[in-house]
Amino acid sequence: MGVFDTDGSEATGHEQVVFCQDRTSGLKAIIGIYSTALGPALGGTRFYPYESEEAALADVLKLSRGMAYKNSLAGLDLGGGKAVIWGDPVRDKSEALLRAYGRFVESLRGRYYTACDVGTYVPDMDVVSRETRYVTGRSVQNGGAGDSSVLTAWGVFQGMRAAAEHTWGSPSLSGRTVGIAGLGKVGKYLAGHLIGDGATVVATDVNPLALEWARTTHPEIQIVADTQTLIASDIDVYAPCALGGALNDDTVPVLRAKVVAGGANNQLAHPGIGKMLEDEGILYIPDYLLNAGGVIQVADEIQGFDFERAKLRATGIFDTTRRILQLAGDEGVPPAVAADRLAERRMAEVGRLRSIYLG
Ligand SMILES: NC(=O)c1ccc[n+]([C@@H]2O[C@H](COP(=O)([O-])OP(=O)(O)OC[C@H]3O[C@@H](n4cnc5c(N)ncnc54)[C@H](O)[C@@H]3O)[C@@H](O)[C@H]2O)c1
Repeated sequence: MGVFDTDGSEATGHEQVVFCQDRTSGLKAIIGIYSTALGPALGGTRFYPYESEEAALADVLKLSRGMAYKNSLAGLDLGGGKAVIWGDPVRDKSEALLRAYGRFVESLRGRYYTACDVGTYVPDMDVVSRETRYVTGRSVQNGGAGDSSVLTAWGVFQGMRAAAEHTWGSPSLSGRTVGIAGLGKVGKYLAGHLIGDGATVVATDVNPLALEWARTTHPEIQIVADTQTLIASDIDVYAPCALGGALNDDTVPVLRAKVVAGGANNQLAHPGIGKMLEDEGILYIPDYLLNAGGVIQVADEIQGFDFERAKLRATGIFDTTRRILQLAGDEGVPPAVAADRLAERRMAEVGRLRSIYLG
C-alpha cells in the first residue's frame, strides 16, 4: 500500500503521513492518519525495531487504515490513525525520546490522538502526556483509563455471545467448550467471563507465568501443551488471544471449532483464509470488531474517563456483531466483508455531514 493509494471511494485513502525526527534523543517516528471523516484520528504508537524505513512506513499505513475501520465499526466519533517509532523499545526508549514524540503529536493540534500499542505501555503515555494533550491510555492516577485489556476482553466476550446465538440459538456459552490461545492480559479476563457464564475453558500459553496464573486462579481451566493441540481438540469456539496470523493454511484444516472469536489482531494470515474458513463451515467473527473494547476504553478518556459508560459501549459489540451477521446473510458475504462494508458506509455517510454548512 502506498501513501496515496485509495480504493476509489470518497471515504478512503491516507489523509496525512508525518515523518518526525529528533536527532538528539534518536526519535524516528511516522504518524499515519488514514481518515478523519468521523473525527480526530485515534490509534496507538507501536515501538518496534523495523528492518527498514520502508517496513516502518508499510506498517503504519496498514495499521492506521485498520484503526479507521475499527473506530468506525465501534460507533466512535473518531477517525483512524496510528504511529510507529522505529527503534528497539528496550534499548532506545527514554524520557527525552518519548517527550520529543509527544511534541510532534501536539504539533498536529488534535488531528491525531495516540495510545499504547506493541512496545509502549501506560507509563510511557504518562510521559508523552507531559508534552501533549492528545494522548490516551494514561494511568488512572494521571486521569487515564489504564489497562485497556479489561474492556477488550469484555467486548470479545460480547461478540462471542452473539456468535453463539447465531450458531446454536442461544447467546449463553454455558455447556460450550472454548479454547483460548494466549492467557495474557486479554485472555485472562476472557477466561474469567467464560467460566462465569458456565463454559469449559481449554487454554495454552508459552509463558509459564500465565499457566501458573491459571493453576492458582482458575484450576478448572484445562491446560494443553500448545496451540496445535488446542485447535485439534474438541472445542466449540476458538479464541486466538496471542499474536497475529493464528488462522493460516496449516491451522484451518485441523480446526475443530465451529466458531472463531478471539481478541488477537490480524488473525487471518492472508485474505484467502477468510474463504477457506467459510468453505470449512467455520464462522469467523472479524478480529477488529471483537477487540474494539480496548479502543472504546481509551477513547472514553478524551471526555474524562467513566468506566461504566465505556463498558456500556463495549457491551454494544454484541449488537454490532448481530448486525454484521445479519448483513452478511442478507448480502451473501462472509462477516469480514460485511464488517468492512458497514465501517465504510459509516465513514462515507457520517463524514458527508461535514459538507452541511453550519453558518
Ligand atoms: N490489550 C488490549 O487492550 C488489546 C486490544 C486490542 C487487541 N489486542 C490484541 O490481543 C492480543 C493479546 O493482547 P494482550 O494485551 O493480552 O497481550 P499479552 O502480551 O498480555 O498476551 C499475549 C499472551 O500470548 C502468549 N503467547 C505468545 N505466543 C504464544 C503462542 N505461540 N502460543 C500460546 N500463547 C502465546 C504470551 O505468552 C502472552 O501470555 C494481541 O494480538 C493484541 O494485539 C489487545
